[in-house]
Amino acid sequence: MAEEVFKNIQVLKGIPVDEFMGTMGFFASAVGLNCTDCHVDESGGNWARYADDNALKQRTRQMIVMMNTINRTNFGGRQVVTCNTCHRGTPKPNVMPSLDALYGPPPPDEPGDPFEQAPGQPPAEQILDRYLAAIGGAARAAALRSFTGTGAYLGFDDPSKVPLEIYARAPGQRATVVHGFSGETTSVVDGRNAWIAAPPTDRPVPLLPLTGQELEGVRLEAELLFPSRIEELLTRWRVGVPAVLGDRDVQVVQGTTAGGAVATLCFDAETGLLVRLVRYAASPIGRLVTRVDYDDYREVAGVRMPFRWTVSWLSGRSTYELTDVQPNVPIPDARFARP
Ligand code: HEC
Ligand code: HEC
Repeated sequence: MAEEVFKNIQVLKGIPVDEFMGTMGFFASAVGLNCTDCHVDESGGNWARYADDNALKQRTRQMIVMMNTINRTNFGGRQVVTCNTCHRGTPKPNVMPSLDALYGPPPPDEPGDPFEQAPGQPPAEQILDRYLAAIGGAARAAALRSFTGTGAYLGFDDPSKVPLEIYARAPGQRATVVHGFSGETTSVVDGRNAWIAAPPTDRPVPLLPLTGQELEGVRLEAELLFPSRIEELLTRWRVGVPAVLGDRDVQVVQGTTAGGAVATLCFDAETGLLVRLVRYAASPIGRLVTRVDYDDYREVAGVRMPFRWTVSWLSGRSTYELTDVQPNVPIPDARFARP
């Protein structure tokens, strides 16, 4: 729990560390402030100093209490007003509607809000089957049981790419090793649990176990590396109204995880390939959204798989690129052990 690991937690108690760090990313993006704006200057490069208080941090605690009161007294406790409802990326919310927004094109919004099956749309199974056909067919996809790969990783603030290794085994094991500037980051999904082991400069704890809906989300990402039984990965499949992503028409399909999280999959209307996954995890202050954009599909053992994907979340963005992939190689169990 956050209050057991950190020194000065007064409001956001009772949530695991990964979720707590997710709320910090939510603050930063909703209010348009950097980590060090709400924390003392010395916190840059020193995790212990994040415990110190300053005026913005105190103000933020009041805001959490205010937000919870608004939701409780006006919306039956549903989490409909969040920091983002008022702030929309600026520290001082606009009191006036923006004339540019009124007469300009509507700003793009994050897809992925829960929806029901839209009238006139095909059943989800049809779109999922088309996807399996597009990658080479369910039989070939089922025959791909593992792969290892090497390539490059680029973090949002990084000056250049660094080496990447990936190990994956059906039905949902994945290990990635990024040889970064400040050391090695190892992320493992063993099929049930997941962890991130990172150098002390990058994370407040050396080993971060993932929990709750975030854990379900990374498990889904790992399972999607071997999509032959994609229909079984989620329940309550439904198809929303088609959308446009950049210059691409996409079919939008949504499913629910065992823990009640929502995952949205966008399939290219022309090729049938998976181009985006949007998932989120609940938190006390709002949904923590993560998006994976898949690109550069190439054939491996007769199965088309993305050689590039970009993961964007509320406090970072990572691009993974594979250059060399070896299909169906034995991978020692130790690769998927807790790092
Ligand atoms: C809008 C203000 C705000 C922003 C932006 C923000 N924080 Fe925080 N942070 C807080 C508040 C408030 C607390 C204390 C929460 C509580 O008392 O429950 C906190 C606590 C923390 C703690 C726990 C410190 C301890 O030992 O008690 C860490 C670590 C932390 N923040 C890291 C970050 C990181 C990393 C970022 C950037 C991704 C960030 N924060 C962005 C307001 C903010
Ligand atoms: C109901 C609307 C509303 C909600 C919800 C809300 N805020 Fe605010 N917040 C405001 C307004 C309005 C101000 C500016 C008040 C002013 O100008 O003095 C403000 C000010 C702030 C400030 C001080 C900014 C500065 O530069 O002085 C911080 C930090 C902040 N809010 C963080 C948050 C966080 C984090 C959340 C979510 C937990 C949140 N707010 C939720 C309306 C809201």
